[in-house]
Amino acid sequence: MGRVLERFAGRVALVTGAGHGIGAATARRLHAEGAAVVLADVDLAAAEAVAAGLDEGREDEREDSRATAVACDITDPTSVDAAVADAVRRHGRLDALVNVAGGARPHPGVVDGMTDDDWAGTVDLNLAGPMRVVRAAAPHLSRRGGAIVLVGSVNGLQAFGDEAYSAAKAGLSSLAQNLAVRLGPDRVRINVVAPGTVRTRVWDGQGGADVMAPLYPLGRVGEPEDIAAAVAFLASDDGAWVTGVTLPVDGGVLAGPSAALGRLGR
Ligand SMILES: NC(=O)c1ccc[n+]([C@@H]2O[C@H](COP(=O)([O-])OP(=O)(O)OC[C@H]3O[C@@H](n4cnc5c(N)ncnc54)[C@H](O)[C@@H]3O)[C@@H](O)[C@H]2O)c1
Repeated sequence: MGRVLERFAGRVALVTGAGHGIGAATARRLHAEGAAVVLADVDLAAAEAVAAGLDEGREDEREDSRATAVACDITDPTSVDAAVADAVRRHGRLDALVNVAGGARPHPGVVDGMTDDDWAGTVDLNLAGPMRVVRAAAPHLSRRGGAIVLVGSVNGLQAFGDEAYSAAKAGLSSLAQNLAVRLGPDRVRINVVAPGTVRTRVWDGQGGADVMAPLYPLGRVGEPEDIAAAVAFLASDDGAWVTGVTLPVDGGVLAGPSAALGRLGR
């Protein structure tokens, strides 16, 4: 076990999509490093369960709860505004914003019968949604090292199928570049983490995440904690001079095909 970092002591983080998977792991990581965390999710019961687990066993019973859940649907601007306002009212400040909420939706591809509604729904969740969260939170982010991290995907950086989802995730990189320039003078940073295959429930109906392991040069798929570690770096002062970048956290899949798939890489 490595050194325990405390990079978020006294800081407040808002994490969307914190009820499951990568978002839950991110909330756990930031909390473990000392942050007060607001877990925002359309599935409030799931976010509450994660939050309850975090505050269990905290040492000082008199301390205000450092993990709280709030209902938030990133496809609904009113809901997003209310969740951000709730977090700011509760803690009086906001230092880190992490948008994890998103995901691929089952629908046909562009040349296979995709409808405008299919496209709009996927892009709304994965590109407009994060924009809404940033729009609501940016005015409240600390001018002393405030940080935004958006969870994208390797799908936004190379063709792996699912055009609407991939195009939306690619859009996050441009959004981050433009906002990095816009918010830099306010000392607010914004970056994207682009995961490869991560072992979460989204792979349950597809044979499990491990079916993708042979693609990966490092020989395994990612765990939610692999992504949380990168998010924590970018959200912390360790990333103080990093803004506007998209960081793949991908077991090497964008570097090239795994040698296990053939003779490549020798
Ligand atoms: N798992 C992977 O292999 C993988 C790979 C690359 C990128 N990602 C991205 O990581 C993010 C998290 O994925 P995951 O695998 O942890 O999924 P997950 O389903 O385990 O968790 C997603 C969470 O987001 C919440 N959510 C969904 N829609 C929402 C909405 N409209 N508003 C607020 N919350 C909402 C869900 O309730 C859930 O708690 C997504 O943006 C996904 O695109 C996942």
